[in-house]
Amino acid sequence: MIKKGIILAGGYGTRMSPLTKAVNKQLLPIYDKPLIYYPISILMLAGIKEILIIVNKGQLYQFKKLLSDGKRFGIKINYLEQNKPRGLPDAFILGEKYIGKEKVALILGDNFFYGQSLTAKLKSCVKLSNGCKVLIHPVSKPELYGVAKIDKKGKILSIREKPKKSLSNLAITGLYFFDNKVVDYSKKLKPSKRNELEIVDLLNIYKNKNKLKSEFLGRGGAWLDTGSIDDFYSASSFVSSLENRQGLKIACLEEIALRKNWIGRREIYKSISFYGKCEYSNYLKRLIK
Ligand code: G1P
Repeated sequence: MIKKGIILAGGYGTRMSPLTKAVNKQLLPIYDKPLIYYPISILMLAGIKEILIIVNKGQLYQFKKLLSDGKRFGIKINYLEQNKPRGLPDAFILGEKYIGKEKVALILGDNFFYGQSLTAKLKSCVKLSNGCKVLIHPVSKPELYGVAKIDKKGKILSIREKPKKSLSNLAITGLYFFDNKVVDYSKKLKPSKRNELEIVDLLNIYKNKNKLKSEFLGRGGAWLDTGSIDDFYSASSFVSSLENRQGLKIACLEEIALRKNWIGRREIYKSISFYGKCEYSNYLKRLIK
């Protein structure tokens, strides 16, 4: 069982400057809550209660002010500062002590997932006994992502980062499940031409050992990118449409924790007083009525 998760919430968010000059991208809103709530909700839905958030140097205060130690959500949040972004696998080098001898999930702080069968899928992914598992999803612009070519049985034949020539339309999403070997493998990686450790190189190590598995998010699932300003607005309108139509919030961390019995009414009251008078607090009030 995977019990620990890492959220990589560093990076400069250059494509979204000036919005990201003073504020970390993961703290900007997707409709009614900060972006970081969404990847946290995914780990929580997977049953992961121990989360390490890796942030840029100097931005720890902002995250702690919002999320604190995670008790409000019935989870435990640890933080680590990153001097500068060195590529996704750096999460496992920085997080070595935190990971210890355990397996670990990694989710990129700007990845948004939604879908009916998502929770069941996540619960099966955390059962990983060894190797690595990635979630794949079709996209219209595969050249923007890590891309996988698979055979009819779903076996990954090859993977490449942002291929110029079409390999397939299947993107590797920013949610990964690893066994403990990931720490050693990450340490062995050499920086690429753009001077970063590449997730695709790490995945290729697993693939070459026949230890890379893939799973489809599924046609009913949504995976949205939040890399650009337009993406932020699209994701926001997606969330706003669903939430306003159904009167149910997506990625309300307190609600997820309450339904899992990780917290009770007392913690909900604490959150309400923390947020103050706002629509989010009204929603929390309705949950415990
Ligand atoms: C990163 C990964 C890429 C993956 C994507 C998912 O790309 O390198 O393989 O498909 O996240 O969001 P980046 O967001 O750094 O361009």
